[in-house]
Amino acid sequence: MRDAKPATQIDFRGRTVLVTGAAGGLGRAFAGAFAAAGADVVLADIAADAVREAAQDLAREFREQRISGLAVDVTQQASCDALARQAADLAPERSRIDVLVNNAAIYATLTRAGFHELDIDEWDRVMAVNLKGPFLMARAVRPWMLQAGGSIVNVASATVLSGTPLWAHYIASKAGVIGLTRSMANELGPHGITVNALAPGITLTGASLGLLPDAAGYGATRGAIRRAANADDIVGAALYLASPLAAFMTGQTLVVDGGKQFI
Ligand SMILES: NC(=O)c1ccc[n+]([C@@H]2O[C@H](COP(=O)([O-])OP(=O)(O)OC[C@H]3O[C@@H](n4cnc5c(N)ncnc54)[C@H](O)[C@@H]3O)[C@@H](O)[C@H]2O)c1
Repeated sequence: MRDAKPATQIDFRGRTVLVTGAAGGLGRAFAGAFAAAGADVVLADIAADAVREAAQDLAREFREQRISGLAVDVTQQASCDALARQAADLAPERSRIDVLVNNAAIYATLTRAGFHELDIDEWDRVMAVNLKGPFLMARAVRPWMLQAGGSIVNVASATVLSGTPLWAHYIASKAGVIGLTRSMANELGPHGITVNALAPGITLTGASLGLLPDAAGYGATRGAIRRAANADDIVGAALYLASPLAAFMTGQTLVVDGGKQFI
């Protein structure tokens, strides 16, 4: 069971953190932030070579910790189960997974079109990666988290609030993530496991820069904080949600968008 006594600092030493979709972008930034807070980190991605490289870079920076890069396809239960076993083995002396960050998604490569024109196969694919993926990964880590408690952070999107047009499949998948978060929070709360969603607004990553013609200028004229977000603006919320500071917070959606929209 996770210690309910709030720590004054976010310290993940002696914890194993598993981040999916960690080959680049936000996932890589989450992995780096948890490593900087002392965690042993498993970076996982379908882009096997890129995620191994990302993990090697991080391991060079944080030599004291165990850092590993592993291949996974989050749409496949067997692949998720194998990843969870390998992640638990990262520190065999404790054999557990303390934090799962469900970050893998299809995002920038998606077609933007009216809902009546969206390709049905693309709808199925986005649901498989963005919604079924977090569901399968949570099932895979559950046996390890049941032993000692833990935290699951599901990466959703602030687009669920805005209902951005021409992106119905992506937004529906991320709205599903928020519902899944609430349901799993109820089921896992009695076992000392928190489940929360983190909903970033547009954040400058390789993916979003390729998506918007003026991503870097996004936010300069709208919202409470008048600038574009970097990955560094988002990672603190993930650390918080996964830490003992948030031990009494579960089933929630934390929107980190510089005050573009309020709920
Ligand atoms: N960047 C933004 O503006 C923004 C805003 C809101 C939410 N998000 C969310 O943040 C997360 C990261 O976004 P990003 O901008 O870093 O995008 P990204 O495309 O760089 O990251 C997604 C990662 O998921 C991996 N992936 C895709 N399919 C997979 C599969 N089947 N199994 C395992 N891994 C798979 C990709 O290889 C990629 O590395 C996503 O969930 C995205 O929806 C991003």
